[in-house]
Amino acid sequence: MCGIVGFTGHHQAAPILLEALSKLEYRGYDSAGVAVRDGEKPTEVVKATGKLINLSQKIDGGRTLHGCCGIGHTRWATHGEPSEVNAHPHVSGNCSGTGSGQVESEVVAVHNGIIENYQELSEKLQKNGYRFYSRTDSEVVVKLIDYYYRKYKMGPIDAINRTLVRVRGTYALCVMFKDYPDEIYVARKDAPIIVGTAEGESYVASDVPAILSYTRKVYYIDNLELARIAPGEVHFYDLNGDEVEKEPVDVPFSEEAARKDGFEHFMMKEIHEQPKVVRDTLHSVVKDGKIALEIPDDVLENIEQLYIVACGSAYHAGMVGQYVIEDLAGVPVRVELASEFRYRKMKLNKKALVVVISQSGETADTLAALRLAKEKGLPVAAIVNVVGSSIAREADYVFYTVAGPEIAVATTKAYSAQLISMYILAIKLALLNHSIDDAAPLLSELETLPSKIEEILKEKERIQWFAAKFAHIRDAFFLGRGIDYAASMEGSLKMKEISYIHSESYAAGEMKHGTISLIEDQTLVIGINTQKELFEKTLSNLVETRSRGAYIAAITQSGCYSIEDNVNFTVYIPRINELFSASLTVIPMQLLGYYMAVARGLDVDKPRNLAKSVTVE
Ligand code: AGP
Repeated sequence: MCGIVGFTGHHQAAPILLEALSKLEYRGYDSAGVAVRDGEKPTEVVKATGKLINLSQKIDGGRTLHGCCGIGHTRWATHGEPSEVNAHPHVSGNCSGTGSGQVESEVVAVHNGIIENYQELSEKLQKNGYRFYSRTDSEVVVKLIDYYYRKYKMGPIDAINRTLVRVRGTYALCVMFKDYPDEIYVARKDAPIIVGTAEGESYVASDVPAILSYTRKVYYIDNLELARIAPGEVHFYDLNGDEVEKEPVDVPFSEEAARKDGFEHFMMKEIHEQPKVVRDTLHSVVKDGKIALEIPDDVLENIEQLYIVACGSAYHAGMVGQYVIEDLAGVPVRVELASEFRYRKMKLNKKALVVVISQSGETADTLAALRLAKEKGLPVAAIVNVVGSSIAREADYVFYTVAGPEIAVATTKAYSAQLISMYILAIKLALLNHSIDDAAPLLSELETLPSKIEEILKEKERIQWFAAKFAHIRDAFFLGRGIDYAASMEGSLKMKEISYIHSESYAAGEMKHGTISLIEDQTLVIGINTQKELFEKTLSNLVETRSRGAYIAAITQSGCYSIEDNVNFTVYIPRINELFSASLTVIPMQLLGYYMAVARGLDVDKPRNLAKSVTVE
């Protein structure tokens, strides 16, 4: 949600801010803005609604704004509709019109997150003479910082600290003060922000890829910590204002990893990276045939219950994991949506392990679920992709997926890596439980996944043709049983989130209990049917919809050719142990969602209303 950047150094700030923001557009793209300082001159604020290109055109790619210190923001609206006046940066003084122009304000800032008690704070500030021009909670924070800055006259760190103590909610803040022309102040609580330094220059960003072309040396700021950033130097402080020592971390991936590499969209590039990501994630924990996890064996050995908690696609990976773990290891698994888990008053098994799954490691609900589980005394293992993210730092044990930076809002490669982590966890538990004696056959089967994914990708034109034929449809249903049902959830989400076609995934056997009444002539039904024991039953359910007019596209294992007598279109995946079939069936479903969105002329990488990392409830 929202992307934040900052720069102070010896180069012109505006072009750097725009370039960094372009790498963060996946976080929000309702509106954008920058504020740039040129020494003692008034700060220039420019904002524009819509995508970043509108802002860039307004300031001629940054060339019309002068100054070597600045902050920028790309917005995903929460409080206040997307408009120029609600766009960031916000200022402590009054402003007329849309908020763009020269400002003399003491404080100028950008914010990512939600301030829950902004109304109460706004009333207090109004009693002290402040007037508000926007409908955002962010403007309230900026004015509160200004209030404390003027009242106590103890400098920026003190003013920000006093503000942080008063606000409830989540924030990443980047603040400039009129009296400190080349400095930027940063603070965070439960919203991501990092700082990078290079020769004489310093950078701030919500996410590492935004500044990778300038530096790979970054600092992670902890919750309720502040940073003061000057050209080439950074100092950290705690809530008491005492300085905190911190070491920079070298980012383990390069700038190229965050580029499109000749693909039209990041999503297609990331789909093609899946063989590598699967291999890398597998090899990160399997060495010489042995599984080495950070979670100690004695923690895994003694559990009676596993709770897997996550959101969106990560939840879907957990759903696949549930079937695989229960089948292989016999450990009962409950998969919970983090947004529900955190408010459910359920009695938790004391001998349980909680596994949270998150690509970004910043999803607010998943982070809250992790904290709740820890409060209740349960050990928490996190399956996370972003190194150093909040979830990775707060979990007791981490299993990093090795997917590299994922830029497209719709996840593909991170989901595939999460599936691998689920399989590995299942095999490890099965070994410790003695449900299996030897992991070798299962691990060898996993080793075949990358080449099998490549085989499916070679056939992508067939899916493209199919997608073009059905791109006009209004509804689609994804049906399956068992692991196929879990995989169909992800297929359905891929289609709806980027092509805006309404789609539902349904347990195939459940259709006749109500939903089948929605089937009409030519309704598209995607049937996933790879499990031998369930094959005939799923096929019958598909035929039930076909008899009511549905057009059936089936995804099944190679060799199950009899299916062609009963369906209209078939996609075969290479043969694989059924437990791992989701890693293959998901590929044609990702391609289908992608090609449908392209055929409908939509912005695949930045679907409307969505943001990559959901740091609000
Ligand atoms: C899927 O394509 C979405 N981007 C979304 O469902 C995502 O998986 C969900 O928001 C969870 O994000 P996380 O993995 O970063 O926690």
